[in-house]
Amino acid sequence: MKKGKVDALLGIVFGDEGKGKVVDVFTPKYDIVARFAGGPNAGHTIIFEGKKFVLRSIPSGIFAEDKVNIIGNGCVIAPDLFMQEARELETAGYDLRSRLHISRRAHLILPTHRVLDRAYEAAKGKNKVGTTGKGIGPTYSEKASRTGLRVGDILENFEQKYQALKARHEETLRHLGYTDYDISEEERLWMEGVSYMRTFPLTDTEVEINRALAEGKNVLAEGAQGTMLDIDHGTYPFVSSSNTVCGGVCTGLGVPPSAIGEVFGIFKAYSTRVGAGPFPVELFDETGDRIREIGHEYGAVTGRNRRCGWVDLVALRYAIMVNGVTQLIMMKSDVLDTFPTIKACVAYEKNGVTTADMPYDTEGWQAVYEELPGWQTDLTGMTSEAEFPQAFKDYVAYLERHLEVPITILSVGPDRAQTIIRG
Ligand code: GDP
Ligand code: IMO
Ligand code: MG
Repeated sequence: MKKGKVDALLGIVFGDEGKGKVVDVFTPKYDIVARFAGGPNAGHTIIFEGKKFVLRSIPSGIFAEDKVNIIGNGCVIAPDLFMQEARELETAGYDLRSRLHISRRAHLILPTHRVLDRAYEAAKGKNKVGTTGKGIGPTYSEKASRTGLRVGDILENFEQKYQALKARHEETLRHLGYTDYDISEEERLWMEGVSYMRTFPLTDTEVEINRALAEGKNVLAEGAQGTMLDIDHGTYPFVSSSNTVCGGVCTGLGVPPSAIGEVFGIFKAYSTRVGAGPFPVELFDETGDRIREIGHEYGAVTGRNRRCGWVDLVALRYAIMVNGVTQLIMMKSDVLDTFPTIKACVAYEKNGVTTADMPYDTEGWQAVYEELPGWQTDLTGMTSEAEFPQAFKDYVAYLERHLEVPITILSVGPDRAQTIIRG
């Protein structure tokens, strides 16, 4: 029998590209949808039939009742937030128990990891990363230090293991002089979340996925964050703490590179970034404010203002390279509907040096732009490529020329239905 494939859908800029929406649209074509990295730092929005959901740890394939969804070994999971998220879906009528499987190898985010996240940020003074405060960095650090707790640990002697790790965290916090916190209520909910999690299938998801592939089934790997937030390839140290790139699919799900099929790279028709760090295309003017307002660019997890700017071809080319992107998906095209001109960043410039390649030191670069005419037409009601105004078609063709990868899907609104698959 022909083996199945793992297609990857990856954010290729600074996250919030619209991954949740497209995973939901793609789900009918797959047997399994799996998250391979990150945790509740993610906020993936899905809108259909007048309903809106923001998922953090649960894959966006959960709305198709007959599909298995997996939280893979590369993820980190907070039991209290997981319980809250899962209960919201249960209240909305979705049955999760039989089709949401969690890897026993995924790491647990403890309440004290979240306190440590805040403490480390406070200690950084002006160089704060601007994390989501969900304990992501401390949990992945603990994984690398080989002192972390995994989902499988909740099945045996858990209280003892938890108390020992918590005590170590408290000691670190004392050393940092960070003692003004109270997690008692949080901890109660967290423990309730642990009991709740025990009622789900906690499995060896890598075996399950590989077995499915051997049976000819197909898997969609749902990325979190984006390539520029990848721990190795992003704008370090202003990054998240996991591998968000395609290589992370293999390690985060336990699948071989030969199983990877299509690599979908998802980006917006413009750029955003939430949190601190270099962002050469950032607009500090009225145009930036307009993009934020029209695009509702406020964080799905933290509510923070997202920084906005024009599309960044330097970052996109770099991300296409490290991920091996085979198809591009452009989101939020409609947000630029009213702009008379559109810009695209084609290179970076610093101290008289111009580069079209992603520099090692991403600080202090200015964007070099090319300008294109805007389409000044409402795209939101369009249902086929044939309806697109010429200036929009030209913008898409311009991006494809620079990026050398086809843009096969265009999104013209937040709803599931506002998605145009090009023929
Ligand atoms: P993710 O983290 O990559 O899943 O993206 P987020 O959910 O954090 O952010 C994307 C936001 O854009 C959400 O509020 C979506 O509802 C919205 N969205 C997605 N696609 C489109 C689109 O084509 N047009 C508009 N206007 N909004 C969109
Ligand atoms: P989705 O999956 C956008 C950013 C944070 C911060 C940095 C590190 O919804 O696209 P962390 O809490 O991970 O240690 O924060 O990464 N960040 C995101 N930005 N979208 C996300 O996820 C993000 N997850 C983390 O703002 O700058
Ligand atoms: Mg998001």
